[in-house]
Amino acid sequence: MLHGKKILIGITASIAAYKSILLVRLLVKQGAEVKVVMTPAAKDFVSPLVLSTLSKNNVVIEWVEGNEWSNHVMLGRWADVFVIAPLSCNTLAKMAHGLCDNVLLAVYLSATCPVVVAPAMDEDMWQHPATQKNISLIKEYGNTVIEVSNGELASGLFGDGRMAEPEEILVFLTEKSFRSAELKGKKAMVTAGPTYEAIDPVRFVGNHSSGKMGFALAEELYLRGADVELVSGPTQQKTVYSGIRITHVVSAADMFRACEATFPSVDIAIMSAAVADFTPVNVANEKIKKQSGNLELSFEKTKDILQYIGSKKTKSQYIVGFALETNNEKENALKKLQSKNADCIVLNSLRDKKAGFGIDTNKITILDRSGKEIESGPKPKKEIAKDIVSFIVTQIHA
Ligand code: CTP
Repeated sequence: MLHGKKILIGITASIAAYKSILLVRLLVKQGAEVKVVMTPAAKDFVSPLVLSTLSKNNVVIEWVEGNEWSNHVMLGRWADVFVIAPLSCNTLAKMAHGLCDNVLLAVYLSATCPVVVAPAMDEDMWQHPATQKNISLIKEYGNTVIEVSNGELASGLFGDGRMAEPEEILVFLTEKSFRSAELKGKKAMVTAGPTYEAIDPVRFVGNHSSGKMGFALAEELYLRGADVELVSGPTQQKTVYSGIRITHVVSAADMFRACEATFPSVDIAIMSAAVADFTPVNVANEKIKKQSGNLELSFEKTKDILQYIGSKKTKSQYIVGFALETNNEKENALKKLQSKNADCIVLNSLRDKKAGFGIDTNKITILDRSGKEIESGPKPKKEIAKDIVSFIVTQIHA
């Protein structure tokens, strides 16, 4: 998402300036074009040489560099976003009141791009009414503030005022400034992970699905602009994007209920969960005690969620099913495509190395109703998710 984006980093005098080195490095690694402007006092905290080397651009600090005037107006027009991190208490106050005694402030006052700030200061300074008022003022001007966090401060005290970590700033920019518009206005539902079918209060029948593929799909849909509802079985997965809504479920019946309620309002549904096909007929109220002889359990079929939403599908809805197969893979996947009324099916074969449960890579074939067959992988699940979502985008915009 950040590839080719023009990001101007402003650095002010704060101990947290050391984090800006990593921020510049992370942005460049993502393919962004990065330029840096610093206040003269920030030079005491971080080396311009390191920043110019990492950003591959001259760092602007003074009004005049050599014989040349630093064109602050053009810097603020060049950038897609101006990120001031760290933002010191002093620079915040100057921004709030329109002072212009260094180049960074001149860039700020003349910038036509969105401005995002990550404040950093000691807790008492942060809590001071003057600082809080200044924060409110710059928010009123339309600037975005990345909240400070709580923790150890440069003074040795603990409290609010820590600058957000570079990785958090990267996620913030990706999510708030650079989501693409390809799926803007579309709502998507994704199912992920396994389901657990209870036997008694402490035991269940489950499977090895990690939820990685489903979470990668939800994130990719979200970064392409969709509004995403993720229905997840029990997994260790987390998403860094606060805008993805997650409904946590346990059993196949819970997942069915969540999907039944959400499906009517979505444009796209991707059913990547490994839903249990059978569930115990009776769930013991107490823990089943060890006994002589075998334990016999009786199972009944769960509702097939994909089949259910397939039967309710309208012309404008696009449904993607998954098929996990060990033999006659294509034939079985095509049967599922038809019987569950999906628009396409993503085939995973457990015979493929680097594919399947628990691992970070996958290898898939997308099969659709018009006979298209698209192979992808083996590669990381995040990359596979990009291919699946790109395919959906071409189909729904066709
Ligand atoms: N699926 C579902 N609800 C179920 C079972 C499966 O929504 N109760 C969905 C899965 O999320 C997947 C597709 O159906 O998108 C195929 O799942 P899979 O386990 O491969 O196939 P099954 O239909 O369960 O058939 P089988 O286990 O016999 O291969």
